[in-house]
Amino acid sequence: MPLDIVVGAQWGDEGKGRMVDLFAEKASIVARYSGGDNAGHTVTVGEQIFKLHLVPSGLARPHTIGVLGNGVVVNPNTLLKEIKQLEEGGVSVSPDRLKISPAAHLITPAHRALDAAQEAMRGKDSIGTTMRGIGPAYMDKTARHGIRVAEMLDEEAFADRIEAHIKAANRLLTGIYDAEPLDAKVVAAEYLAYARILTPYIADTSRMIGEALQVGEKVLAEGAQGTLLDLDHGTYPYVTSSNPTAPGALIGLGVGPTWVNEVIGVAKAFQTRVGEGGFPTELDGEMATQLRGTGTNPWDEFGTTTGRPRRVGWLDLVLLRYAMRVNGFTHLTLTKMDILSGINPIRLCVGYKRNGVVYPDLPLGTYQMDAYYPVYEDLPGWEEDIQSAQKWEDLPVKCQNYVLRIQDVVGAPVGWISVGPEREQMVRMAELE
Ligand code: GDP
Ligand code: IMO
Ligand code: MG
Repeated sequence: MPLDIVVGAQWGDEGKGRMVDLFAEKASIVARYSGGDNAGHTVTVGEQIFKLHLVPSGLARPHTIGVLGNGVVVNPNTLLKEIKQLEEGGVSVSPDRLKISPAAHLITPAHRALDAAQEAMRGKDSIGTTMRGIGPAYMDKTARHGIRVAEMLDEEAFADRIEAHIKAANRLLTGIYDAEPLDAKVVAAEYLAYARILTPYIADTSRMIGEALQVGEKVLAEGAQGTLLDLDHGTYPYVTSSNPTAPGALIGLGVGPTWVNEVIGVAKAFQTRVGEGGFPTELDGEMATQLRGTGTNPWDEFGTTTGRPRRVGWLDLVLLRYAMRVNGFTHLTLTKMDILSGINPIRLCVGYKRNGVVYPDLPLGTYQMDAYYPVYEDLPGWEEDIQSAQKWEDLPVKCQNYVLRIQDVVGAPVGWISVGPEREQMVRMAELE
């Protein structure tokens, strides 16, 4: 059963990209299954830092093939820019290395304009989206008038379709949102040019993955966003418009559940969030600055896609246990452990309190989360720099105790602890088959 799924266990930016890069060592296919260019995945290999929005992180390994599955929404403009950047950096992204599902949906400038217009209309209740047109593209998909990648194969019909789509969106933009219309003919011409370049990338990715699994090759499903941003299981309405949780990989790639081997939850050793929405363990002041950094290091907590400072807080084990339940993690990975060196004590949220009653799990999932207060356990921190740790024994006992407590409360073994952004800055306690 060689399908492994890598899932964000929090609000995104947990370090999925760098973990996928590690696991891709043994994979033949690395496949994105949800979201679009709202994602920003960072892979650091020596001097090179790749910031990937659509292309799967596993392509930083030369032996892999990348897939954009049917669950992904593709902005062809971003994709082509990213392909160009990667090629310039020495990474081949030729049509024999990247395959796009014909059933994936396209993002257009109309989706981006509608995203901005909808956010403006929400006013103080805005979601804080990445403005990449993600919500409107998935709205079109579920409304059953979205534009699929396969439509690029018929050039003439495609140009007409884009023109009609932009004209329809213009009626919404001008009539409802009081926003500027787009030039339908210009966008149609732009998309026709994209279609001509992208046609060789289109392939039956579900079949490709199925055939690889049949002959025992490892396929890695790369999650984008995170569990708490899941449309169904996240902190609705402050979520994205797809299903980043593990079951989303099956729908988003066209694979059956019996192929799943590992579900690896990637969690940061603390908690971050970009955009609006509840965050019970959020910090401000000096401690927040220490966790976030000031932007001088490439790994400081500023959004990879939008550059926004990320909100930061203590690790929330109630929400991580929840993530464990909805994903069924076989292993957890803890990233950015090095950032906790020198913080004492380190606080862990182990329960929620309301009207004097402490709950180990939120009574109604994330619904009404903001009406509860976090209950903390304080653990002694460590002073040592752990960035060169390679094995469990290299970690200070206080750091080991922090990990053991997390493992204990969440109920999943911690298989990997990352101690720096570099590929090899990793304490490995488990190995994938
Ligand atoms: P993703 O969206 O889940 O792939 O995560 P991002 O790439 O958006 O954000 C994670 C950031 O943390 C990136 O800048 C990574 O290079 C960095 N990073 C990942 N793991 C570690 C780690 O163990 N230590 C440090 N210091 N940085 C890390
Ligand atoms: P990666 O894959 C962090 C957040 C946005 C916003 C909400 C909805 O790098 O972990 P959207 O544009 O999707 O409609 O925005 O979701 N968001 C992310 N936050 N990491 C991401 O991706 C995100 N993708 C979306 O900030 O709160
Ligand atoms: Mg990110």
